[in-house]
This record gives sequence, structure tokens and C-alpha cells, in this order.
Amino acid sequence: MPPRGRRASAEPTATLEQLLAAKEVVVTCGSGGVGKTTTAAALAMMAALHLGGRVLVLTVDPARRLADALGLERIGNTERPVPPEAFAEAGLKPRGELWAAMLDTKASWDDLIRRHAPDVRTRDAILANPLYGNITAQFVQSHDYIAIERLQELHSSWTHRRPATPSTCSTRPAGWRSSSVGGC
Ligand SMILES: Nc1ncnc2c1ncn2[C@@H]1O[C@H](COP(=O)(O)OP(=O)(O)O)[C@@H](O)[C@H]1O
Ligand SMILES: [Mg+2]
Repeated sequence: MPPRGRRASAEPTATLEQLLAAKEVVVTCGSGGVGKTTTAAALAMMAALHLGGRVLVLTVDPARRLADALGLERIGNTERPVPPEAFAEAGLKPRGELWAAMLDTKASWDDLIRRHAPDVRTRDAILANPLYGNITAQFVQSHDYIAIERLQELHSSWTHRRPATPSTCSTRPAGWRSSSVGGC
């Protein structure tokens, strides 16, 4: 997805680094086991190392592959920074920050309800509804929908977040995920 206000270019992108510099959201998709998560982790690492700003890699796959690829013990629905020590141990000095998150389908649905319910009573009634619980926890399509919703929400909140250090380039709201959802 090109940055807001910039039109998508018909020109082919020459290198991966140029692609990363030109886009706010990059999605890796394809069949299971082809390397989507690994590639997303590597691309996010490359962006954090060379381009600076704040880079977020989001996996919608419930497996811990992303956490393992980045050497993270804890990963969840809320974004967490990859600790600077992890880079230092690998002898790397990133220009920016790398953050990671793993989609939690149920938690993301509940957050969506909390954000949009018109009042507390309605919110609690929906959250306690057994049909809502079953649909959000078990329907495959509910996972696909909320994955896109979460990506959009993260992209929006990261776009409006101020950079942690003014010396880095502008906030770099790169949402990434590593599974084939929607029109991928
Ligand atoms: N470029 C690569 N060369 C060799 N093995 C790879 C490569 N990329 C990923 N793998 C391995 O393939 C397996 C599946 O990778 P993964 O990123 O989890 O795929 P996906 O997210 O598409 O399901 C993992 O064991 C991973 O280590
Ligand atoms: Mg995967």
C-alpha cells in the first residue's frame, strides 16, 4: 500500500529495499509453508536495520514461527519491541526499531466490540453472547476478517503515533503479516 496521499506507481520496484521504503504496508502471502512468516520477519528486520523509523511485523498465523524467527519469548496481540540487546548480540546496529505482534482472533474481535459498542450495556451483552463467542472463536472467516481489521487498525494507530526519537525518519508505520487473507 503506498503512503497516504501518494499515488500507486505503475513503475516496477527495483529492489526489496526500495519496495520497503515506498510502502507503508507490505503483505506476504501464499500457500502454507512457503516461507511467508520467515520472509516477513527478514523484510521487517531489513527495514528496521537500513531504513530506520518504527517497523511492525504482524503475523496472523497462530503458530509461534515469528517469535522463534525473531528470538522473542513473548509475543501476542499487543505490539512489543524486539529488545535492542537482541540486535547487539547479533552484532547489528539498527537505525530504527522493530516491533512484533501475533494476531489473537478472539481478543481482536472483543477489542473491536469495545471500540464500537454504543454503550456499556450493549458491549457487555454482545461479549457475553454465546453465538458471538462461537462465531468469533471458531469461524475460519472470522479470523480472515479480523486479520484485515487488525492490520488496518494497527496501520492507522501507527500512522498517527509520533516517532519515539525525533532524529529518526518519519514514523514508519509498516504493518506486516504473514498469511494469505482477503485478496492476497
Ligand atoms: N528461504 C528459505 N530457505 C529454507 N527454508 C526456509 C526458507 N524460508 C523459510 N524456510 C523454512 O520453511 C518452513 C516454513 O516457513 P514459514 O515462514 O513458517 O512458512 P509460512 O509462513 O509460509 O507457513 C520453516 O521451517 C522455515 O524455517
Ligand atoms: Mg506463517
